[in-house]
Amino acid sequence: MPSNVIVVMSPKGGVGKTTVSVNLAAALASIGKRVLIVDANLDTPHVAIYYGFVGYKNSLEDVLNGKIQVNEAIYKTENPNLHILPARVFKNKGDGNAQYKLINLFHHLGRIAESYDFLILDSKPSAGLDFVKLIKNASMLIVSMPEIASMIEAKKLNEESMASGVRVLGIVLNRVNKKISGHMNDAEVSRIVETKNIWKIPEDFNVFEALKKGIPIVWQNQKSLASKAFLELAREVASRSLHE
Ligand SMILES: Nc1ncnc2c1ncn2[C@@H]1O[C@H](COP(=O)(O)OP(=O)(O)OP(=O)(O)O)[C@@H](O)[C@H]1O
Ligand SMILES: [Mg+2]
Repeated sequence: MPSNVIVVMSPKGGVGKTTVSVNLAAALASIGKRVLIVDANLDTPHVAIYYGFVGYKNSLEDVLNGKIQVNEAIYKTENPNLHILPARVFKNKGDGNAQYKLINLFHHLGRIAESYDFLILDSKPSAGLDFVKLIKNASMLIVSMPEIASMIEAKKLNEESMASGVRVLGIVLNRVNKKISGHMNDAEVSRIVETKNIWKIPEDFNVFEALKKGIPIVWQNQKSLASKAFLELAREVASRSLHE
């Protein structure tokens, strides 16, 4: 197992888990870390789409269903440091069985995982702590938007994690936009969720442009505000994960 397994989670859907996973993985690769990103959201898997990666034959479902070895479903990306283990967007017959076998993921990864500095796992909404607890030394990154519903869910997940001994690296507050008066300010956010680390990713319409091109924004538009924030997140995650 690599020393750093990071599960990107949020109980609420659509807050930016995949955007954060894909860009964190891409940014870590850019700063020289060897990264495997795993699409562990088998319901609505979008990691491959966000990398513009289409037409792959083998997927995580095939691995979990014992049809192939894990190395047959790991693909290279345009950055040699970053590999991807995708799930299947349009399911084949029998793929549904893979869902409850996700707990065997690390058994399948075996020694391959040791060749990476980081494993980044995107997850489905409400993936549940049990999944994280199965992974030795896994840390969690909670994604939320600065609005009340997702903050309350982030708070609940953070508290459950602390109570069950799961390490939370911090909260990624995504789509921060000061022009939206209903969004929470820093003080309000800190009052709701008790955490040492809050990273803010601005709402940035360049994210959509990058998505349309199928290139993570950290590679596609390095000058964008979101890109700078993702790189900062990656640098901090890299240093904290390795030294704490
Ligand atoms: N910082 C941002 N600025 C602008 N748009 C963003 C930002 N982050 C995410 N988005 C957009 O928000 C939408 C949802 O993002 P994403 O798919 O990452 O959420 P998710 O939490 O993974 O969703 P799901 O729960 O379905 O897995 C996407 O269209 C994405 O492009
Ligand atoms: Mg997603």
